[in-house]
Amino acid sequence: MFQKRFIEWYEKEKRNLPWRYDHNPYRIWISEIMLQQTRVDTVIAYFYRFMEWFPTIEDLANAPEEKLLKAWEGLGYYSRVRNIQAAAKQIVTDFDGKFPQTPKEICSLKGIGPYTTGAISSIAFGLPEPAIDGNVMRVVSRLFCIEADIAKASSRKIFDEAMRKIIDEKYPGEFNQALMDLGSAICTPTSPSCEQCPIQSFCLAYKKEKQACYPVKTKKAKPKDCYYVCAAIQNQEGAYYFEERHHQKLLANMWMFPMIEVTKEKYERLKLEWAQAYEPSLFAQTKVAEEEIMLPFEFKEQLIWQKRHLGEVTHIFSHLKWHVLLFYGRMPSLVSESFQETITKRWLSPDAFNNVVFPKVQVKLIEQLEKNRNNSNPF
Ligand code: ADE
Repeated sequence: MFQKRFIEWYEKEKRNLPWRYDHNPYRIWISEIMLQQTRVDTVIAYFYRFMEWFPTIEDLANAPEEKLLKAWEGLGYYSRVRNIQAAAKQIVTDFDGKFPQTPKEICSLKGIGPYTTGAISSIAFGLPEPAIDGNVMRVVSRLFCIEADIAKASSRKIFDEAMRKIIDEKYPGEFNQALMDLGSAICTPTSPSCEQCPIQSFCLAYKKEKQACYPVKTKKAKPKDCYYVCAAIQNQEGAYYFEERHHQKLLANMWMFPMIEVTKEKYERLKLEWAQAYEPSLFAQTKVAEEEIMLPFEFKEQLIWQKRHLGEVTHIFSHLKWHVLLFYGRMPSLVSESFQETITKRWLSPDAFNNVVFPKVQVKLIEQLEKNRNNSNPF
């Protein structure tokens, strides 16, 4: 009874989203990965473009990495798209190019965990598999007043069992998506719109007027603060110096201005002391800044630093908060004879920035640089 009412509500109210036009597992898979950590409104344009650029799993498997990253630029968490391509290759080699149809096989694909397995199995293949994400846990915890802490991995099993009891056997994909829509539009984290809820009369939390008590969730640890000094270094031709990040570090293999980690104390001091140029001349010969900034460049001896920083950029990753203080330095001559471009360092002209996929924090640094340039600082 509850299921019937819920699905009728979904059919009437469902959002018109491009991955809901059919039951194509490829489209559903890509949409679900994009929707992890990104809002539906933002995802739509990315989704259309992705499907245009990579219409089939085979196109995706064979795509050059640069194009792949370009398709993902701005969505963040680039490991997601790298995993997508690895999974596409798996599908081509292990499943003859055809998307696997059982939860066990689907779950064996790179980057696909229990949530995505449930979403694809139910929406594309009509299998009664739960798709449990934060939204769904909120709705279900209120429906049954579940006391399990949703921040704990061990609670997953409790929600999985509860979901398997209520999922509509005939329309599991619609049921799961109804929960998603309910969670995003009505059963919201704070002040849910219970008066509009199609399953209000089945909701235990509503009955007890305890909606605000669910879901039970322990506070997440605050992201750890990390402090960096970073340099935008420009040569006589106007190009900037970039380094490729280590393949095992955060933002693996992505191009960034060079930076080094410093202590919080040093960061705060640099931020304060270099906020303004002390002398009329805006540029300083190396010594002063170099001792402070200590970036490990092979050509640092030649650099002329602008005698004040260009401000700071902050960026939050799920577990880290980066504070990056940006300096600007010029190469007085053409790139030093000894400088060799390698796969891990290169000069890039601003005209070429559009062809490179930068991580979000680097985009912010470029914006910060441009903002300062427009502020009439002589570059
Ligand atoms: N969020 C995650 N998956 C979704 C879907 N299939 N439809 C709408 N919102 C979602």
